[in-house]
Amino acid sequence: MKAAMLRSVLKRSCSTTVPSASHVMRRGFSSESSPERKVAVLGAAGGIGQPLALLMKLNPLVSKLSLYDIAGTPGVAADISHINTRSEVAGFMGEDQLGQALEGSDIVIIPAGVPRKPGMTRDDLFNINAGIVKSLCTAISKYCPNALVNMISNPVNSTVPIAAEIFKKAGTYDEKKLFGVTTLDVVRAKTFYAGKAKVNVAGVNVPVVGGHAGITILPLFSQATPRANLADEEIKALTKRTQDGGTEVVEAKAGKGSATLSMAYAGAIFADACLKGLNGVPDVVECSFVQSTVTELPFFASKVRLGKNGVEEVLGLGLLSDYEQQGLEALKPELKSSIEKGIKFANQS
Ligand code: NAI
Repeated sequence: MKAAMLRSVLKRSCSTTVPSASHVMRRGFSSESSPERKVAVLGAAGGIGQPLALLMKLNPLVSKLSLYDIAGTPGVAADISHINTRSEVAGFMGEDQLGQALEGSDIVIIPAGVPRKPGMTRDDLFNINAGIVKSLCTAISKYCPNALVNMISNPVNSTVPIAAEIFKKAGTYDEKKLFGVTTLDVVRAKTFYAGKAKVNVAGVNVPVVGGHAGITILPLFSQATPRANLADEEIKALTKRTQDGGTEVVEAKAGKGSATLSMAYAGAIFADACLKGLNGVPDVVECSFVQSTVTELPFFASKVRLGKNGVEEVLGLGLLSDYEQQGLEALKPELKSSIEKGIKFANQS
């Protein structure tokens, strides 16, 4: 009698109250409208990699999350895999598993490499990170040549040109698919502007153009919305703070790393925009450091419209204030030499 009752309760609950797996997927993650997408994070056990992996696990547009590092990934992957969201998580460790980590990826995010310590510039990282980026990009050209590459490893002004050269050599370069992630500059510019202009940060937009180091970071506060009548001195201070945002964090962490949490957030925002573009969502625009004809420099950060093939359109700079125009001219020599340094490295080594 008891067994029959139990059977009937189970039957009732299964048929009426317990939603089917497909129903849960539909309701929670709109899996029917969002296609399967594999995202690989290279450097996934690092300071940026771990929170970025967490944020990508929370993204319902991701169906497979591949976590790769030279050490520590089994633990990170096991931990993250217990989170009850859509994506399947797999961890890969060491070079012999890199191919498996990359195969079938739609997006590869690269936060692998060493971060800055107080007193270092992003360029001081060049010697180590250039080699890491080169070997990872060689593997990308072999195992997932069609993936969108989101480059976080610094110096971005050089690592993006390195990646382009490596892909060119492999015959897989598609300028629409290579992005230097400069979103953290935009995130900072929005936060600092909202604080100064005393407006709700959620509604703020500030384009940031140029590159991703020191004076090459050029926030266009004259185009910021909502508009605020800030004094020239305030704009200068905001510009400087945005340019030095990374250093502010490196110094506050006093040797214990660089911006990891805000970078993970920014990296997740940018990857989400790329996923939306791939999925055909219209009018997805983010700033990014890409191959460009906006200036005479071969790579430049500006607003980019994202689409099914990556870059749909590189948007122009719009109207600049005199101060921004001066900043633009001042940044060009440094950005040019960082780009050339990357190209030279890729072709020499
Ligand atoms: P981290 O040292 O905490 O983590 C780096 C990870 O990369 C480590 O887990 C390490 O094992 C791994 N790694 C090293 N060589 C590798 C290889 N060949 N393949 C795969 N993984 C490898 O450093 P953190 O703080 O996560 O920074 C990573 C990079 O991101 C640095 O280059 C840093 O300068 C850059 N960064 C970029 C920002 C941006 O706005 N684009 C902002 C902040 C940092």
